[in-house]
Amino acid sequence: MIIDESYIAYHRHNAKKSQFQSCSMCQAVFLKSNCKLTCWCNEGYSYELGDFQKQHVGEFLNSPIISYIRESFQNGLEPFGYCERCIAKLSFESQHKQFIVVDVEPSNICNLFCNDCICTAERLSENTPKRTLLPYKYFKKALKELRESQFNVGYIAFCGNGEPVFNPHLPDMIRFARKHFPESFITLDTNANFKPKIGKLLANCGLTQINLALDGVAQQSYEKYRKKGDFNKSMRFTEVLVSEIRATKSVTKPLWKYILFNHNDSNTQITKALCMADDIGIDIIFHLTISNNKSLRKPYELAELVGKDRISYYIDSKYLDKKGPENPTPEHRNLRGNIMKINTNYKTGHEKMRFEEIKANLRHEHNDTLRHWQQIRKRYVYKGRKYSDQEVIDWFMSAPFMEVKTGAYEVSD
Ligand SMILES: C[S@@+](CC[C@H](N)C(=O)[O-])C[C@H]1O[C@@H](n2cnc3c(N)ncnc32)[C@H](O)[C@@H]1O
Ligand code: SF4
Repeated sequence: MIIDESYIAYHRHNAKKSQFQSCSMCQAVFLKSNCKLTCWCNEGYSYELGDFQKQHVGEFLNSPIISYIRESFQNGLEPFGYCERCIAKLSFESQHKQFIVVDVEPSNICNLFCNDCICTAERLSENTPKRTLLPYKYFKKALKELRESQFNVGYIAFCGNGEPVFNPHLPDMIRFARKHFPESFITLDTNANFKPKIGKLLANCGLTQINLALDGVAQQSYEKYRKKGDFNKSMRFTEVLVSEIRATKSVTKPLWKYILFNHNDSNTQITKALCMADDIGIDIIFHLTISNNKSLRKPYELAELVGKDRISYYIDSKYLDKKGPENPTPEHRNLRGNIMKINTNYKTGHEKMRFEEIKANLRHEHNDTLRHWQQIRKRYVYKGRKYSDQEVIDWFMSAPFMEVKTGAYEVSD
């Protein structure tokens, strides 16, 4: 869905109160592989805020859309309806940060089918969005624009929803980023299921850190989440990468990122991972997730086992159930934090799920919505034909996917 002025105007009038002060997008830009500027979070991933093929990225960061998102939080409001379920919100103001974050999605193609990943959900849905590689040309354009706008880019993350390594320009992209932002913290996240020779290409190209997603200590525990992944292959990749980093005296830090699930969080497994990391000569962190089948181990208890500095989570602590349930049931493992229960059932297709949400809102508000749209649009047009109010309501209720474009309603077939 394209977010334009009228979408903002609607939400400005209908915004709900927020418990949060900001979100990760208030000081960040996400360069998606299809050249769209969207939110980085799962909820906003398919809502288009801009297009960096056509727009200047520096100007986009000061555009009405981004200003609206920042202002909404400052006024204690959720910017958009979908923000209600977002897990990238923050309980502090990110505006005070002196730098911005650039998230890059070099590819939305992947060789694995991890259960709770949006890339998997998209590929398994009925209407899979196109698989794309971020064109090097537009990546360079975006970074040059950030440079000329004099943004202090503190962090550049090559990650997104897909496997970055599929983009053959990845090492060039990293080198380009390093050249233009010599002081930035530049990271890459990879599932490491690649031939060792690819590890060699990434060992010394300008990364500050490379995060290797190895969530287990043997094939059996690893593949429960990392579907179609080959544990031995990822370990071999890691070993060659580490030895190439040493051989080339590269400053890149390789980091084993172990996401904790119910199936890989026993003391025996964790201790084994610590020993294996030590053997390879690599640091390891244990990442607490809030996704399905998450580990319910408590941070303080894990800290005793692995050390406080080896525990990480990206999410605002407001989402975390720090105490945890006394007797966890399978249901507890599938609740996202204590506050939020997020619908991850994409089986019927990502777009369809969004349509259900639109439909639910319209049932309660469709009269207001229509009145509002009429004021702004004054007309409803689909493929050249004008539609009556009633037709638009009927259509809203039955369309598989709604897209709002300037000056007209459009629906993608
Ligand atoms: C979608 S992945 C893309 C990068 C790469 N393919 C990978 O798997 O690391 C983006 C980030 O999400 C993390 N991730 C994947 N599944 C996760 C989960 N269930 N909970 C928390 N983080 C997860 C990965 O470790 C990575 O840092
Ligand atoms: S490897 Fe990364 S991008 Fe691929 S399905 Fe798993 S989490 Fe998603």
